[in-house]
Amino acid sequence: MIWTVVPADGLDRGGDPVLTVFGDSLDMSTLSPHGACLLWQPELIWLNAVSDILIAGGFFATAFFVMFSVWRRRDFQFPWAWWSFGIYIMLGGVSHLLSVLTLWVPVYGIESMVKSVVAVMSVGVGAALLLVVLPRFLVLPGRAQLQQAYAALAEETKQRRSAEAMVQRFQEIEATESQVRQAQKMEAVGQLTGGVAHDFNNILTVITGTIEILGDAVKDRPHLAQITNLISAAAARGADLTQHLLAFARRQPLQPRSIDINGLVIDAAQLLRPTLGAQIEIESMLSPDSAPALIDPSQLSTAILNLALNARDAMPNGGKLTLETRNVVLDDDYAAMNNDVKPGNYVMIAVSDSGTGIPASLLEKVFEPFFTTKDVGKGSGLGLSMVYGFVKQSNGHIKIYSEEGHGTTVKLYLPQAAGIASIADVLAAEPGISGFERGDKSILIVEDDALVREYVVTQINSLGYITLAASNAAGALAIINGPDRIDLLFTDVIIPGGLNGRQLATEALKRRPELKILYTSGYTENAIVHHGRLDAGVLLLPKPYLSSDLARMIQTALTS
Ligand SMILES: Nc1ncnc2c1ncn2[C@@H]1O[C@H](COP(=O)(O)OP(=O)(O)OP(=O)(O)O)[C@@H](O)[C@H]1O
Ligand SMILES: [Mg+2]
Repeated sequence: MIWTVVPADGLDRGGDPVLTVFGDSLDMSTLSPHGACLLWQPELIWLNAVSDILIAGGFFATAFFVMFSVWRRRDFQFPWAWWSFGIYIMLGGVSHLLSVLTLWVPVYGIESMVKSVVAVMSVGVGAALLLVVLPRFLVLPGRAQLQQAYAALAEETKQRRSAEAMVQRFQEIEATESQVRQAQKMEAVGQLTGGVAHDFNNILTVITGTIEILGDAVKDRPHLAQITNLISAAAARGADLTQHLLAFARRQPLQPRSIDINGLVIDAAQLLRPTLGAQIEIESMLSPDSAPALIDPSQLSTAILNLALNARDAMPNGGKLTLETRNVVLDDDYAAMNNDVKPGNYVMIAVSDSGTGIPASLLEKVFEPFFTTKDVGKGSGLGLSMVYGFVKQSNGHIKIYSEEGHGTTVKLYLPQAAGIASIADVLAAEPGISGFERGDKSILIVEDDALVREYVVTQINSLGYITLAASNAAGALAIINGPDRIDLLFTDVIIPGGLNGRQLATEALKRRPELKILYTSGYTENAIVHHGRLDAGVLLLPKPYLSSDLARMIQTALTS
């Protein structure tokens, strides 16, 4: 907008009107009528002009403060009210500037318009301040109140944290309790299972041992030979199940030695290939620096086989089986959460599949003996039980992770070996057959179970040795004290008559230092096996055994 300014004397002097406005603004001869009125006291013109300019500056600064604050602080309540307030203050500033302008330029229309807008807004803002803002402002908390509120909040937060810590502690206790309960349950089932399995083992020893003889005798009668084969297969299956039960009960004789885990896993993977079928891909991720583990290798192979068979069953339409090895440290924190774990260095073998997974509700049960979700005849529910018992008996740790619909991982943590060799190394090396005459050698058999004793005597006789037999330690000592030649004492570990097999052997060696000793047992106790480990220098033939095993072990014992 361009104003055409007519000076007070009414003469138009030409030139640029805007420049004229500002160029002449200090010229007292160009005052507007309103400004001219003040000429009777000219210093008032300046007082008004300077004051209005300063007031306008103050207004603009306030308006800027309000509007900038409300723009930056999005958490202000009633932003519309603050914006209106800012605009109102700004217009107030404008009206003061116009007051200065009208001293020289008679823009009264504009000034009145701005003033009227400010006036209307004054009413609104005044009402809003008094009716809306003031009541709220008065109830705003003061500094002291805020400090009190902060203190109360801090106290509440502290209480809440301690309550949360307590809840967590309860949950941990609950989890530990349920772990302990589960462990007790497994222990109780283990004892029961171990007892039953031990007796079964004796029965199977007789069957598996004699069936070969029977098979030889009926070789030329196909019908009977077939039945013999059936019995043999059934007994073998029975022996297999019994072994799993003993493994679960942690009562199988283990022969741990220092084992290269990677080598064992590679061998197992090769054996698994045909069993798993073409639909299942096997991947192995073996850490090249895996430490050797102190473990019974044949049992570990069986455990990996059991895990792989479960994986196969969980992937009926194919999938991927992953075998991993790695060194791991189970630290104190981990041990605190898993009460059966001793902190230390372990070698981990993980067997993972991409199968159906296990529902969370069943996960606790899978290690229990006879727990199976498979159809009758398809699963006995002893696979994982065997793995569980074997790993525990080997001082290891087992963990299962499963996600329904995604797959399962079973991790075996095995204790690291420090280059330990055991009696098993001796056994592992096939004994060389020395040139002794069997007919020369005499064996004293000590076995309380009459059925088993009879079988063993027949067996050993048929191998060409001379046999003597006793059903308990006292009977055996009577024979040992007698004149008969004895080269080998073949004794069960658990025998009646005051002494156990180990003590009997000690007594016998006092009387006959040259005597060789061979132990046999279904399940073994501390006398011969400390927590499932053979004492150094002890030979043990685990029951049930084939007659070929018996022959081999007797030879080993006699030549040792
Ligand atoms: N990898 C797996 N994926 C899905 N389910 C599994 C897996 N491993 C075990 N399970 C579940 O745990 C149950 C128990 O397994 P376990 O190996 O002890 O017995 P089983 O396989 O049923 O029979 P067995 O091994 O004696 O022939 C299985 O029936 C199955 O339900
Ligand atoms: Mg299984």
